[in-house]
Amino acid sequence: MKTIIEPFRIKSVEPIRLTTPEERRRFIHAAHFNLFRLKSRDVLIDLLTDSGTSAMSSAQWAALMLGDESYAGSPSFDRFEAAVQHLMPFKHIIPTHQGRAAEAILFGLIGGPEKCIPSNTHFDTTRGNIEATGATADDLVIKEGLDPRVAHPFKGNIDLVALRAYLERHAGNVPCVMLTITNNAGGGQPVSLANIRATAELAREFGKPLFIDGCRFAENAFFIKQREPGQSERDIVSIVRDTFSCADGMTMSAKKDAFANIGGWLALNDDALAARARTRLIQTEGFPTYGGLAGRDLDAIAQGLTEIVDEDYLRYRIRTNEYISERLDAMGIPVMKPAGGHAVFVDAREWLPHIAPLSYPGQALSVALYELGGIRACEIGTVMFGQAPDGTESPASMDLVRLAMPRRVYTQSHADYIVEVFEELVEIKDELPGYEIVEQPPTMRHFTASFRQLAPAER
Ligand code: F0G
Repeated sequence: MKTIIEPFRIKSVEPIRLTTPEERRRFIHAAHFNLFRLKSRDVLIDLLTDSGTSAMSSAQWAALMLGDESYAGSPSFDRFEAAVQHLMPFKHIIPTHQGRAAEAILFGLIGGPEKCIPSNTHFDTTRGNIEATGATADDLVIKEGLDPRVAHPFKGNIDLVALRAYLERHAGNVPCVMLTITNNAGGGQPVSLANIRATAELAREFGKPLFIDGCRFAENAFFIKQREPGQSERDIVSIVRDTFSCADGMTMSAKKDAFANIGGWLALNDDALAARARTRLIQTEGFPTYGGLAGRDLDAIAQGLTEIVDEDYLRYRIRTNEYISERLDAMGIPVMKPAGGHAVFVDAREWLPHIAPLSYPGQALSVALYELGGIRACEIGTVMFGQAPDGTESPASMDLVRLAMPRRVYTQSHADYIVEVFEELVEIKDELPGYEIVEQPPTMRHFTASFRQLAPAER
């Protein structure tokens, strides 16, 4: 097989500043060992997130100039709405400034105390927006989805037996069923079309609407095409349309699979709910033909949606993560299998057993990746999830490090460089120090906490 090349050429470049390990040690020390506190100019390869970090195409930059900034009735909205409805045939498309704003509007309307909402796995902002209304968010992903080592083609699937039992138990209190595609918090793992259809049927049986968090819908559709029996001959657009035809609505962050740097939407079929959502939108985001966005952003999203469903792009996209994951696996580094659509996840707790979970192995690996190679990754473990509202601390279920790939930004040699940094890490991993938090806010500490490096005797 020939190399799967980047299916684009580069017209405009953004230099990255080369720094030395000594300089980076100073920068991370000054950032109190918190990667969120680094300046991006001091980062060589930024894998903190794939959100809002995509490279826009020349056609998207051109589309910006078509943006019509009228307060009401902008043609940019018409183009945006048509592009969304081409893929996601919902009746009402309500633009928002990003995904979490769509979630806040939706759950502000259908959430509330006593309510409970099942999903395969809620993303943190989804959970946060549900819980902010007094409702409960429950994760019912299949058991394979919780074991990084088990290979399964659709580890993002919801457990249908558990969902039926949940709906029977909580029938009166469930305002909707949700599915996150791909399952970001579970490692960027896809949900099969069969599972989406069965979830929709089950929800209908209980009279509940199904909402899809569609952030990475195109990656999910490509996995369906690659892995699901009977789907390999279909085009991505039909798979995407089938996916969303099963649902009653969706929330979306255009910062992922729309190649935009900002934006999102809430889509609904229910007229009465849409009318209430638009009232909220006007209060919190803006008039319904722009939401929280400029007209030019709506045009960038409309164009991005035509590009994201390109199979050559998706093949290259998925292959990059598989490639890095296979190379790390061959070195004996425990990675989440199979590779996710948008990221490679490394199991830091397993790889650095000399660092106790409460000394943050994921943070240790993230700091080491930065010091050694200038790579910025994201700890998804005890630093992020270990803090309880009452101030106590306990280990998260896993200590993972996410290497999230921005779309169309890095090339194959960047991927090889990432692998080489891990090769060097293999040599020194047993000496990596643990960390202690010396200052933290009462919630969401991972964004701002200050850390102290533990001396060998303290580990
Ligand atoms: N849902 C999922 C599955 C997400 O991954 C995100 C964002 C959101 C909703 C919220 O969208 O950021 O536009 O408000 N994920 C980013 C990440 C932040 O790094 O995974 P947003």
